[in-house]
Amino acid sequence: MLEDQAANLRERLKQQKSPPQKIKEAKTVSIISGKGGVGKSNVALNLSLELISQNKRVLLFDLDIGMGNIDILMGMPAQKSIVNLLHNYEAIEDIIETGPLGLGYIAGGSGLNELFSLDTNSRDYFFEQYYKLVSSYDYIIFDMGAGATKDTMSFILASDECIVVTTPEPTSITDAYGMIKHIVTNNPDMPLKVIMNRAPSVKEGKRALQRFRDVVIRFLQIEIDALGILPDDKHVTQAVIRQIPYTLYNENAPVSKAMKQLAYHYADDMPQDFQQSGRKNFLQKLKQLMTER
Ligand SMILES: Nc1ncnc2c1ncn2[C@@H]1O[C@H](COP(=O)(O)OP(=O)(O)OP(=O)(O)O)[C@@H](O)[C@H]1O
Ligand SMILES: [Mg+2]
Repeated sequence: MLEDQAANLRERLKQQKSPPQKIKEAKTVSIISGKGGVGKSNVALNLSLELISQNKRVLLFDLDIGMGNIDILMGMPAQKSIVNLLHNYEAIEDIIETGPLGLGYIAGGSGLNELFSLDTNSRDYFFEQYYKLVSSYDYIIFDMGAGATKDTMSFILASDECIVVTTPEPTSITDAYGMIKHIVTNNPDMPLKVIMNRAPSVKEGKRALQRFRDVVIRFLQIEIDALGILPDDKHVTQAVIRQIPYTLYNENAPVSKAMKQLAYHYADDMPQDFQQSGRKNFLQKLKQLMTER
């Protein structure tokens, strides 16, 4: 049975035509942090929903190994996960769940471990399936775990962009800096943006953001774009408890208003020439990184 599947797969891969040269490709974005619990998953989910409100096509991919919880934040337990694709060769469109506002979502969970130890056939199947997503979305957003393992680092380094989430706490800032250093050491050209989450006030948020950017420029000689400041807001905890994304739970909450504004600037920021920049795309980079390991 398995041999049949493998043979079918090989046949399909052989027949696969070379991909068309100019399709509009999704921008692949990793949401990352140094320290855990700083608000990545809530940022990934609510940013995705706000981009959808702006008529963007968004897929959210939970890449937090073993700890994936986006479905819990949405109050919609996932029926399928990446395991269905990796084990049963299910098509990628069949494992995409639909969340609020029609958000496309792929659950990862413990099955993700396997993604990094696949044989060549299964890996090619994953790449082939993933390729279908690239032309179907404007943004593919990865919710990563805190820090990075050798495995998840391939996805981070292959991304078109990383959004670093931190809070103003010195521990969170120091760990975010460490994470950025790790990324630029391996990929000096990675575009990086930072979100200051849980700011006690706009003033303190701005100050923390400026300090952070100064340190990054001074020690790493790179500019990191400030994407925005999100306030520390009790509505986040209330929304998490009710399992409703905060932007839907209360659109007038300070954090929801700030996220709306942030997403508006973010979407506006996509360079017109992003598609034609001749850069290596996500899949090319990921293939290279996963094969080199
Ligand atoms: N802006 C905010 N205001 C108040 N509380 C917040 C805010 N953002 C996050 N939190 C709190 O932090 C908790 C953790 O958030 P979240 O799960 O998004 O973090 P994470 O970085 O994804 O964590 P992990 O590293 O475990 O994946 C939330 O459940 C909430 O209580
Ligand atoms: Mg998380």
